[in-house]
Parts: sequence; structure tokens; C-alpha cells
Amino acid sequence: MTSTFTIAIDGPAGAGKGTLARRLADHYRLNLLDTGLTYRAVAHSLLRLGLPLDNVSAAETAARQVDLAKLDRAVLSAHAVGEAASKVAVIPSVRRILVDKQRDFAKTPPGAVLDGRDIGTVVCPDADVKLYVTASAEVRAKRRLDEIESIGGTANFDEILADIVRRDERDMGRMDSPLKPAADAHLLDTSEMAIEAAFLAAQAIIDDVLAKRNEA
Ligand code: C5P
Repeated sequence: MTSTFTIAIDGPAGAGKGTLARRLADHYRLNLLDTGLTYRAVAHSLLRLGLPLDNVSAAETAARQVDLAKLDRAVLSAHAVGEAASKVAVIPSVRRILVDKQRDFAKTPPGAVLDGRDIGTVVCPDADVKLYVTASAEVRAKRRLDEIESIGGTANFDEILADIVRRDERDMGRMDSPLKPAADAHLLDTSEMAIEAAFLAAQAIIDDVLAKRNEA
């Protein structure tokens, strides 16, 4: 049997898990999947067809059509698509279809870093390493504002903060697979930690697990 290595990264929007996931996948030469893009792809299909986001059968069809190799971040990263994604993400049958695809991805050698909301709890409960990356809502809103301003855009801090709080409530409050740390997740609070420090902290945790695995 070929063995794989799985790193699960969960946390709320804007905590820095995407950047951390990319750095870790590069460093450990693992495949990378931003599972948020799969929910965004479903939402984007419905928006494009002008269908309501609670149309379950259309959302299921869109979920079945999601091709993990063809997720277009440039199209899917729009703010409105993220909002819409958190609405289709409450539909259990859509989650089941996407989770199956995510699990297949994780099983492909040499293994993967997956980031999302339910990776350590639902998608890969047996992941070798689970990280829960968080930061205060204010810090996440400020980072988002800086990001928008750095590319010449303008935005209002209070509106961004309100959006973040609303999305957290939706993601943490839903019945199916709510956002929460797995019991065995390592918590990384990036409120006062630069991404490099978070990467080093994660690296220490992962190297420890790898060393124990090699001893076994
Ligand atoms: O991470 P991102 O902001 O791209 O995710 C968009 C939305 O997709 C989240 O707000 C969440 O509702 C949903 N999502 C999810 N489970 C995941 C990844 C994302 O429910 N594993």
C-alpha cells in the first residue's frame, strides 16, 4: 500500500490559512486543495445561471460537475462568490458530493494539504496533522482592507468587519459540518503573528509528527 500524508487546515475566512497551506504544500511537496474553491464553484454556477442559491437540485448538479483540476481562482475569488458559497455550503447533499471529491484528492499519493472549514472534523478525520488557524475578526478585516488597498481598491473597514462577522456566524452556526476545531487540532492564533511565524510554528508541529512516524 502506498502511504500518504495529510495536513488538514481549518479556520474562519481571512485567518491566513490559504497562505499557510500554500507554504506547507511547497515545503513538504504535497498536493494542495483550497476546498473553499469547490463551494465557490457551485455558487458561481448558480449565480451565472441566475438561479436562487437555495435551489437544491441545481446546486447538486453543479456540485457533481465540479472538476478539482479546473478551479479558476481568478473567477472564483470575487467577494460576492464567497458570500454565495457560504449559502450553498449549508445544503447537506452538496456537501456530501464535494466531500467525496475532496477525500479522493487527499488519498492521491503523496498526500495533500487541504484547507477549509471541516477538513479535520469531517473530510479527513484521520489526517496526520490538524491545524486550526484563527485571528480576531478585527485583524482579519484589517488584513482584507490592506489587501484591497494594496491593489488600488477602496473599501470601508466597518462593512468588511460586518461581512466577516456574518460569514463566521453562518459557517459556525450551520447544522451540517459547522466550523469548529477538531478535538486533536493544534490552534494557531495569527492575530499577532506574522505568516512566517505561523509557518515556522506549523513546521515544528509537522516535523515532530514526521519524526515519530519514521521511528515507528
Ligand atoms: O474559504 P472560502 O472563503 O473560499 O470559503 C467560502 C465558503 O465556502 C465559506 O464561507 C464556507 O461557507 C464554505 N466552505 C465550507 N467548507 C469548506 C470550505 C469552505 O463550508 N471546507
